[in-house]
Amino acid sequence: MKLSDNKATISFSNGTPNFEVPVYAGTIGPDVLDIRKLYGATGMFTYDPGFLSTAACQSAITYIDGDKGELLYRGYPIEQLATRGGDFLDTCYLLLRSELPTDTQRKDFHKLVTMHTMVNEQMQFFLRGFRRDAHPMAILTGLVGAMSAFYHDSTDINNAEHREIAAIRLIAKMPTLVAMAYKYSIGQPFVYPKNNLSYAGNFLHMMFATPCEEYKVNPVMERAMDRIFTLHADHEQNASTSTVRLCGSSGTNPFAAIAAGVACLWGPAHGGANEACLQMLEDIHAKGGLSYVKEFMEKVKDKNSGVKLMGFGHRVYKNFDPRAKLMQETCREVFAALGVENDPILQLAQALEKIALEDDYFVSRKLYPNVDYYSGIVQRAIGIPVSLFTGIFALARSVGWIAQLNEMIGDPEYKIGRPRQLFTGSQRRDVP
Ligand code: CMC
Repeated sequence: MKLSDNKATISFSNGTPNFEVPVYAGTIGPDVLDIRKLYGATGMFTYDPGFLSTAACQSAITYIDGDKGELLYRGYPIEQLATRGGDFLDTCYLLLRSELPTDTQRKDFHKLVTMHTMVNEQMQFFLRGFRRDAHPMAILTGLVGAMSAFYHDSTDINNAEHREIAAIRLIAKMPTLVAMAYKYSIGQPFVYPKNNLSYAGNFLHMMFATPCEEYKVNPVMERAMDRIFTLHADHEQNASTSTVRLCGSSGTNPFAAIAAGVACLWGPAHGGANEACLQMLEDIHAKGGLSYVKEFMEKVKDKNSGVKLMGFGHRVYKNFDPRAKLMQETCREVFAALGVENDPILQLAQALEKIALEDDYFVSRKLYPNVDYYSGIVQRAIGIPVSLFTGIFALARSVGWIAQLNEMIGDPEYKIGRPRQLFTGSQRRDVP
C-alpha cells in the first residue's frame, strides 16, 4: 500500500491525545484512513454499520465508480469485456490470473475447465435427498458445501495448489450443479456435460436437452447466457463476497466459504433481486398490467407500504448500472431472435422504468435500474424458471468469490475477520 500525500489527525474533547491517522492511496478511487492502531492508542472503535465507509481489505480485482456508472475487471471496462469477442471463460481467466489470456493460454484454460465439468456421480444421491419442490438456492447451498466432502484433495486453503484446483472445480462444476438442481425439480433425468460445447452452450444443453431428442444450442441464447455470466462475474466487496472473505478468513476450506457466499447471495436485497423483480412484474401483470402501474408506483413511494421497485437502486451505483445497459441490449437481441414483439412483462418493465427515471422520488435518491432489472426478463425469455435466476447468478459469481478469496489468502495483511461492537445491553449484574 502506498501512503497518500494527505495527512489526517483525529482530535478528542476528553483529553485523549491527538491520533495521527496514516492515509493510503489506491491506484484509483478514494483514499483510506488506516485506523488499525486507533483502539490501541485511544481505546475507541469506529462505528460503521453496513460498512458504508469502511474498506475491509485491499484488492486489485474489480473497481466500481458508482457516480460515473463504471465497472472495471482488472482495469478493463465491463462494456469492452462483454462486447469485444471474448467469452466468460476469458473473464474467469482475467479475474483469477490478472491478465487476459493469450491464444495458447485460452486453449489450455478452456481445456482445464472442460475436463472438470462432470461432478462425482455420488453427488446425485445427495441431491436426491432434497424435496422436489426445494428452492434451487437451498439445494445449491447444500451442494456447494458438500463439494468439500467429495473433493478432499482441494480443501486446504493454505495450499496454493489446492486453491487453484478448487477454483477450477468450482467454475467447471457450478453449471452442472445448477442444471442438476433444475432437472431434479421438474423430474427429468440429469444431462451430462458435453465438452465440445462452449461454457454457456453446455449449460443450456444440460438445462434443456433430454435423452429423447437432439438439442441444438441457439447461438443468440448462448451469447445472452455468456453475457449474463460475464456481467455477474465479480462486483468487488459486495455482501456475498465479503461473506466469502469473512468465512474464508477462519481458514475454512474454499467450498465451505463459497457455500456461505451462495447463502448470502440468496437474499432479495442482493442476488435474490432478479427473482423478486420478475415476481413483482408478474404480480403487476396479474393485477391489471399497464393500468395498475400508476397505483403500484404510488405504493413504492409510500414509506409505510414496504413495497420497493425491485431491480432499482444500488449501494454503490448512484448512476446507471453499466451492466443494466448491456442487459437491455441483450434483452432486445433475445426477443428479436424469438420473434416476440409485444411481451407484456417487458412492456411493463419499460413503462415502470420510464416513470421512475422521470419521477422526483427516484431522481432525487439517484435510483437507477440495476443489472437485475433486465436479467430476469432475459432469462425468462430463454426459458429459465424464475426460481433458478439466483442460482445462475451464483454460478457466474463463483469465479469472483474464489478470485477474491485467493487474493485474501495471498495478502500478508490478512487476518481473521472479527468486527467489534458498541455494546448497548445491560451492564454486569447478579442473578437474583
Ligand atoms: N424502491 C424504492 N425505494 C428505494 C429503492 C427501491 N428499489 N431502493 C432504495 N430506495 C430508497 C430507500 O427507501 C431510501 O429512501 P429514504 O432515503 O427516503 O429512506 C433511499 O432510497 C436510499 O436507499 P437505501 O436502502 O438507504 O440504500 P442502500 O444503499 O442501503 O440499499 C439496495 C441499496 C440495493 C439494497 C436498495 O436500493 C434496494 O433494496 N433495491 C431493491 C433490491 C435490488 O434491486 N437489489 C439488487 C442490487 S444489484 C444486484 C446485486 O449486486 O446484488
